[in-house]
Amino acid sequence: MQNFDYFNPTQIVFGQERLNELNNLVPVNAKVLVLFGGGSVKRFGTLDKIKASLGGRTVLEFGGIEANPKFETLMQAVDLVRTEKVDFLLAVGGGSVMDGTKFVALAAKQTSEHEQILFNGFEPVAATEALPLGCIVTLPATGSEMNTFGVITYNQQKYPFTSPLVFPKFSLLDPDLTLTLPKEQIANGVADAFIHVIEQYLTQPQNAKVQDRFSEGLLKTLIEDGPVTYNDNTNIEARKNFMWSATSALNGLIGVGVMQDWSTHMIGHEMTAMFGIAHGRTLAIILPSLLRERKSHKRAKLIQFAERVWDITSGSDDEKIDLAIDKTEAFFNSLGIVTNLSHYEIDEAGINDIVANMEKMGLTRLSETGDLTLDIVAKILTAAK
Ligand code: NZQ
Ligand code: ZN
Repeated sequence: MQNFDYFNPTQIVFGQERLNELNNLVPVNAKVLVLFGGGSVKRFGTLDKIKASLGGRTVLEFGGIEANPKFETLMQAVDLVRTEKVDFLLAVGGGSVMDGTKFVALAAKQTSEHEQILFNGFEPVAATEALPLGCIVTLPATGSEMNTFGVITYNQQKYPFTSPLVFPKFSLLDPDLTLTLPKEQIANGVADAFIHVIEQYLTQPQNAKVQDRFSEGLLKTLIEDGPVTYNDNTNIEARKNFMWSATSALNGLIGVGVMQDWSTHMIGHEMTAMFGIAHGRTLAIILPSLLRERKSHKRAKLIQFAERVWDITSGSDDEKIDLAIDKTEAFFNSLGIVTNLSHYEIDEAGINDIVANMEKMGLTRLSETGDLTLDIVAKILTAAK
């Protein structure tokens, strides 16, 4: 295990019927901007409940943050924050709204060059202050509610950013707020959370026993309760476990002291940017193909994954690995996610475009060891056809 620092100050307020506690979570004299997406928050009455629980505070609204939030949209929120002198941001939604709100929190404190926030990759943004923010999660998936990351679309490309200044002050996780989600969004969320764990776990042996076993617990929980949540809107206990798994998958804890491999995410982001495929879905298309291509590279961890996550105890090591990858793909398929590129009308030319775009973005040496080059990306995509 490598040396590490771990810090996570986000207060988690978890469970049903806790929206009324907002009054204790948001500073008493705050002028609040509630940020939300395309309308689900209004349509299902969540916004009214939030306003009621914020009591006598001045509350402004900014709706219309789209999935894969755009820089231009968010800059309108930044203008509103500055003209109205807002001093607390409340994100209500999924990853797109939470990420967008983090961007607004940083950008509102800058007078120019707001796009520079997006050009630091996974190095922290060079900012010294941000507005405080809180999150109310309506879609368990990204873990944005308990981490420092955001992903923003700028000039039709997806740009990640990170800053410790945008750790949410609190995040409220009420499974009831997710009951209105269409099934395909649950599927996307399960796939996203599952693959967040995989990208921190399925690398090379690090003798990081706690991280490995936490990861295996999260994967097993997602395998158990993801499909239940997908198929049964009445099972709140399963939904709670899915929700907490999604947050725990990317709050930093399982990634400390270990190598990480974000290749699937980097390829997936290009597919979203170029073809508009939902984030979680792109990952589910890529991962099985990537694991097959990288079988020898990830051999030891793949055997561990087969034995401990999928309980495959018989057969040769190669058979265990193949079966574990097949089971992983079948798991995504069982959630209604088709894992072939052709289904999304991406052909040879599309694959070439993805690879060319990755080159343009400087994404040329991926994986935990930096040896996953673009010719291998092309092979992975071709095998996913
Ligand atoms: O906009 P509305 O009308 O609210 O509809 C949304 C949206 O269309 C809908 N939705 C959300 N909650 C709902 C609901 N519909 C009904 N009932 C509810 N309770 O769901 C749709 C998708 O929402 P979105 O926020 O885009 O989905 P998700 O949470 O999957 O977020 C995806 C974004 O997060 C980024 C992705 O790149 C993408 O931009 N990521 C952020 C990460 C992070 N901050 O750590 C890591 C991830 O790997 C990911 O890259
Ligand atoms: Zn993700």
